[in-house]
Amino acid sequence: MDAPIALSLPVVLLATWVLYNFLKTKPHYPPGPKGLPIVGSLLELNNERPWITYGKWASQYGDIVMYWVLGKPVILLGKMEHAENLLQKKMAKYGDRPELVVAQELVTQNGWYIGTARTKHDTHRKQRKILGERLRANALRDWAHPVEITELHLFLQRLVRHPERFVEVIKCFTVNVMLNTTFAHGSIPNLDNPIISRVNRATDHQFTAQVQGRFWVDYLPALRHLPTWLPGMGWKKQGLQWRKEVDALYQELWDATKLRVADGDRHNCLVESLLETQMHQITEGEGTTISAAMVDAGTDTLTGTTVVFMIIFMYFPHILKQAQTVVDEAVGRDRLPTFDDLGRIPYITAMIREAFRWRTVAPVAIPHAVIADDFYAGYFIPKGATVFALSQHIHEDEELYPEHKEFKPERFLDENGRLNTLPHAGFGFGSRKCLGQHFAEQTLFLMIASFVWSFNISAPTDAKGQKILPSLDPMDWGAFLASPPPMDFQAIITPRTQAVVDIINRAVQASGHLGPAIVAALVDSGRFTVTILTRQSQNPGTARESSPFPSSVSVVPVDYTSLSELTAVLANQDALISAVPSSPAAVLAQKQFASACIAAGVAHFIPSEFGSDTDNVLSRSLPLFAPKVELQEFLEDIVKSNPDFSYSLVRTNAFLDSALQRGFFVNLPSKGQGVTDVFGSGDQLFSTTTRSTIGKAVVAILAKVDACKNRSIFVHDIALSQRQLLDIAKKVCPSGSWDEKKIDLEEMEKAVFEGKDNNPRSCLKLTVWKEGYGGHFKKLDNDLLGIQGLTMVEVEAMVKTQLES
Ligand code: HEM
Repeated sequence: MDAPIALSLPVVLLATWVLYNFLKTKPHYPPGPKGLPIVGSLLELNNERPWITYGKWASQYGDIVMYWVLGKPVILLGKMEHAENLLQKKMAKYGDRPELVVAQELVTQNGWYIGTARTKHDTHRKQRKILGERLRANALRDWAHPVEITELHLFLQRLVRHPERFVEVIKCFTVNVMLNTTFAHGSIPNLDNPIISRVNRATDHQFTAQVQGRFWVDYLPALRHLPTWLPGMGWKKQGLQWRKEVDALYQELWDATKLRVADGDRHNCLVESLLETQMHQITEGEGTTISAAMVDAGTDTLTGTTVVFMIIFMYFPHILKQAQTVVDEAVGRDRLPTFDDLGRIPYITAMIREAFRWRTVAPVAIPHAVIADDFYAGYFIPKGATVFALSQHIHEDEELYPEHKEFKPERFLDENGRLNTLPHAGFGFGSRKCLGQHFAEQTLFLMIASFVWSFNISAPTDAKGQKILPSLDPMDWGAFLASPPPMDFQAIITPRTQAVVDIINRAVQASGHLGPAIVAALVDSGRFTVTILTRQSQNPGTARESSPFPSSVSVVPVDYTSLSELTAVLANQDALISAVPSSPAAVLAQKQFASACIAAGVAHFIPSEFGSDTDNVLSRSLPLFAPKVELQEFLEDIVKSNPDFSYSLVRTNAFLDSALQRGFFVNLPSKGQGVTDVFGSGDQLFSTTTRSTIGKAVVAILAKVDACKNRSIFVHDIALSQRQLLDIAKKVCPSGSWDEKKIDLEEMEKAVFEGKDNNPRSCLKLTVWKEGYGGHFKKLDNDLLGIQGLTMVEVEAMVKTQLES
């Protein structure tokens, strides 16, 4: 019994001695600046661009640096391997954020904002799960890609028209993409829309508040309890003011989405899925914060990186040439790039990775914080330390990225031209790594591939013929958390050929925008002076310069809710054609238009969205069409007492081009992979019309108002069945798998009328395919209007184009 005790005594003594020595010696901290008593290194930091000081320290003290500010430790990681070993491999320990009082308590609600949320709040884990699921690489195709394609075409068209305002055109694109994927807000039509600056300001507030050290309270959290009226407490007032702005913006957007969804108007945006999730997982406050974070995280970063590309192309013209060559080879010159080209042009993806490496817009990412004491590389890293990965400094490591000052996409490619595994730090690390990485990479791919396919860009020259290039000095780039490039330089941007402009214009028309198709037809006819009325709220001041419409067209901003304003702008006009998108609010606007026409003496009105036949008793009874029926009855009524005023309802049934593009008739977008819902037997014929034909019909109606007044005008390009379209698709793409799922229209009808199916698309499907709903127009006005329609050969060509695009 004594032996074990005798044996263990020396062991215990040894352990005590080791522990005593460990506790007695100062922990072995990483090297770094000594700093002053109490304040530490506070005064040595460049608070606007701390990464510049950090980079110098990393060169002076080594790849792991530690400094203190007001008793708080900060660790800097200046090599990829250290960032990966700590932030990535030990993510559970290094996944917190430091205490950021202004960001976590003032500017956002309850510390919920995902980018700065502490891990002690369960909400961070929940939000990462919800957003992470939505932002998976493979999930984006269904909900983000359609929005992005539409916005991309508008972006390219705006750039053709306003190349000198390229930075604003880029901002308009990124804000549109983020607002529409998040809220389905509706495309912002011009560059001067106040919502763009509101989003940019809100993002600015969020990012500024996240800069550790920007506010003293981050080092002395007790200051948070002092009242705002005390001298030196301006930061608190400022934080609260920012909060007001941010909350007002996102609550407004959230409420508008809720209303829209309640009206049955669904677009598969992020907030729609949050509203569904909300019931069981998140509060409304968390929901608005998630949506704000999505918009904030994506707009400035995507804008900044795209502008970095403009700078790259101006500094390295051979890179632009090379990119144009590879994109032309992969895509040809007859169509624009699409997301389907993503895996086919590794050079563009390599260029994007190299752009993140060459000049990341987030030079020190967002700081992490350590949850528990740790030892690494012989150093002690104390619990609570803030940890920065010095992304830009890491990217200048000659061992990992030789000739780091050069822009060399090849470093991300193997000898066969395929992407290699070289890492970069642009999206951060571990459990706080950017959740939008795939979204950002895919968006940039589409954007950059389409830009180089469409445009040339070069630097202007001075009187001596020297290029005037934007500065590359980091001191001239943005400050605080992100370091966006300068935005005030000039560039010469020109379409590569006239054919490019035509293809872009056609792509815009094919993206579901009826307005441009009608305007194009009116202008092309040469018979009209066209004035476009746009909502005042969307067009303060300089609508003309930023309009996406032809230059012969006048654009007049007007408040749709003001009868007197509408009446004033309609004076001397002969007709008003409305293209406002369908919604209950649109009905109010259209009634207002009709009243203004009467007051201003405008003779004829063509309201929008009368594609389906609401003269038909069954269609008329569908819940989706109640607002249209209300408008129709209103018009029928007012013409009785206003004989000089008339209207026409243009019936076109489903749009052929956009419905094919979206896979509404046949599952084309997935190139024959997937399942086509076949309604009923699939043999019923339905009328269908292209947007350009609708434009022609409008022009013809205006030329024959007497024959078209106060009634429905029925036009179509052709009557088709789903079976015919499927046969064409199989013929064009025999290798596809054209599986079918039979949908019972009787059951759908029952569910719609019993209120069990509230999806507006179900109502549309009934009007297209269900017997008795008038989806196959029997009495057409094609001859009256001179509409020729399409042949089956032309339809086959359209299907082929869709399958190849
Ligand atoms: C060029 C584009 C982008 C860049 C360079 C970028 C970069 C970053 C970086 C460096 C971080 C911090 C990582 C860390 O702490 O280790 C981050 C966080 C984040 N990013 Fe991005 N980002 C971009 C676009 C986006 C987009 C488009 C979205 C959303 C769709 C997004 C969503 C987020 C979110 C939610 C976080 C917070 C993650 C967390 O704290 O858990 N980002 N991003």
